[in-house]
Amino acid sequence: MTDEIVVIEGDGIGREVVPAAVEVLESFELDFEFVAAEAGDATKAATGEALPAETYDLVADADATLFGAAGETAADVILPLREAVDSFVNVRPAKAYPGVDALRPETDVVFLRENTEGVYAGHEDRLSDDLSTLTRVVTSSASRELAEYACEFVRDGRGPAGDPDEGFTVAHKANVMRETDGRFREEVLAVADERGVDADEELMDAFATKLPLDPSQYGVIVCPNLAGDVLSDLAAGLVGGLGLLPSANVGHENGLFEPVHGTAPDIAGEGMANPTAAVLSAAMLLEYLGHVEEGGRVRDAVESVLADGPRTGDLGGSATTDEVTAAIVDRL
Ligand code: NAI
Ligand code: MG
Repeated sequence: MTDEIVVIEGDGIGREVVPAAVEVLESFELDFEFVAAEAGDATKAATGEALPAETYDLVADADATLFGAAGETAADVILPLREAVDSFVNVRPAKAYPGVDALRPETDVVFLRENTEGVYAGHEDRLSDDLSTLTRVVTSSASRELAEYACEFVRDGRGPAGDPDEGFTVAHKANVMRETDGRFREEVLAVADERGVDADEELMDAFATKLPLDPSQYGVIVCPNLAGDVLSDLAAGLVGGLGLLPSANVGHENGLFEPVHGTAPDIAGEGMANPTAAVLSAAMLLEYLGHVEEGGRVRDAVESVLADGPRTGDLGGSATTDEVTAAIVDRL
């Protein structure tokens, strides 16, 4: 059966790293049909809309989407697209690779971030010239769904330890946000208990200190939306930068895969962007569609190129995007 994959390059280095990821996907003889779609700042300038309805519909109907980055319109593009794929979890691995100058070379963690609610649920109001408010949304159903995914994730040996008995850590702030994070914490721990998965907990502020001091004590981390956004970027800093971090917005029958980084306007158009994050996002796409062996081969090829070079400028090298991509495809 053919899998339809929507490809949205977006703006800036999205136009450079997404073609690299597609080249990697095309190097396998898989039954994929790629469909190009437009979104982002340039699309808005040309059509008046950052996310045309046609793109939204294509993404909603596809089997998976590979997305690069959007510039100033990022929130107008990515938030609706996460909804289009009905994504309930954002998977963000942060791993330090041999050959890359990392602040904490022992870092190997995966964030499982709630992807629809919390303070990103979109309920903000300006009540007066002086006062704005935000409503934080937490449901038992979304918290449980995230926790069920986390249990399955560790049971399948997909955590950093690759061990089905590996547990997870839930990071929250239920001591202050007693109602919302209280609910989140209670539901996540209850699901872990029902499934017989070890789960411990950390207050997210203390966790933000403990993670950089000793990342080796953590593996899979389950957290609410905003906390997952911020803490995973913190972890990015530990492993050598944004050019390396992939992510997956996982839904039930659809997924959207994207590098964590943005459009990198400072280097866009020069052909020097690091394609690693986009290529690793493609590896997550392969695994999501059931091509686990191929996904693993992409990861191995990327690791081997990171270790031996060539490397792009952000990693201290001078290679171009194309040279790094060719080296990855060559390893495959
Ligand atoms: P950024 O991730 O674009 O860049 C931050 C720094 O990291 C820059 O110095 C950049 O050169 C470097 N960098 C990022 N990816 C790299 C790569 N693959 N290779 C080499 N170096 C890389 O974040 P910034 O500067 O905060 O945002 C720039 C634009 O991107 C903004 O308009 C922002 O709204 C948008 N953005 C979009 C996102 C999305 O579409 N998902 C996510 C984050 C930002
Ligand atoms: Mg972010």
